[in-house]
Amino acid sequence: MDFFDLANKRRSIRKFTDEEVPEEVIEKSLKTALLAANSSNLQPWEFYWIKDENKKEELIKACFSQNAAKTAKELVVAVSRIDTWKRNKNLLINHYKEKDKLIPLVEKYYNTLVPLQYYYDPFGISTIIRKIILFFFSFIGFFKPIARGPSNKHELFEIVTKTTALACQNIMMSLVAQGYDSCPMEGFDKTRVKKLLNLNNKSHIVMVLGIGKRDPKGIYGDRFRINEELVIKIVD
Ligand SMILES: Cc1cc2nc3c(=O)[nH]c(=O)nc-3n(C[C@H](O)[C@H](O)[C@H](O)COP(=O)(O)O)c2cc1C
Repeated sequence: MDFFDLANKRRSIRKFTDEEVPEEVIEKSLKTALLAANSSNLQPWEFYWIKDENKKEELIKACFSQNAAKTAKELVVAVSRIDTWKRNKNLLINHYKEKDKLIPLVEKYYNTLVPLQYYYDPFGISTIIRKIILFFFSFIGFFKPIARGPSNKHELFEIVTKTTALACQNIMMSLVAQGYDSCPMEGFDKTRVKKLLNLNNKSHIVMVLGIGKRDPKGIYGDRFRINEELVIKIVD
């Protein structure tokens, strides 16, 4: 299957068969997730493959017992985090150091700019400071392009969630490539899912992926896409 067949074949499956999914298939898909493009290579994602039967039951309930979760053979929860940047940028810097490839520009980027963008304190003081800096910066913005964020927690979550969603697409495509299917879900009670996974308020549940082999009745209708002229814009 070439890439275009793969993209066409991927559908959101709401009913899976009883066929088990080999562990290697999930492992391969999760490893493929980690290859996704991501902002500043900070890899702010986590993927929870739920194997514990009781937790699975709880997760299905938290997904409102929707069919895609109930019939799924495997469930994976994709999480984005705004509190792993420090660890990850240190790992990245160490990697470059070990390879003797840490140039001053890269070090400056990760040790100055990244903390300036990502540091977040629960009282919101860093947000206020960033907003003041960005306010003064905005005057320069009349004359040349400037960075206009992120300043608050919401904007940070936007960055890490965007990146994690790209990784989720890799999981879905990788499953199709291996003959399996999935359904991404955002229909869940986020408070319950977070509690189930012991996650703090610096994490966000991006989506839950139901995984299995497609049942012919698992596709709810023909694929519908709105007219491409409405969404593909040629700027000339
Ligand atoms: C972020 C996200 C959340 C979704 N949530 C649900 C969901 O909770 N339940 C569901 O049945 N489908 C869900 N879907 C699947 C969409 O309904 C589906 O992708 C869309 O209808 C297009 O169909 P296709 O994936 O088969 O091309 C979700 C998809 C995405 C990307």
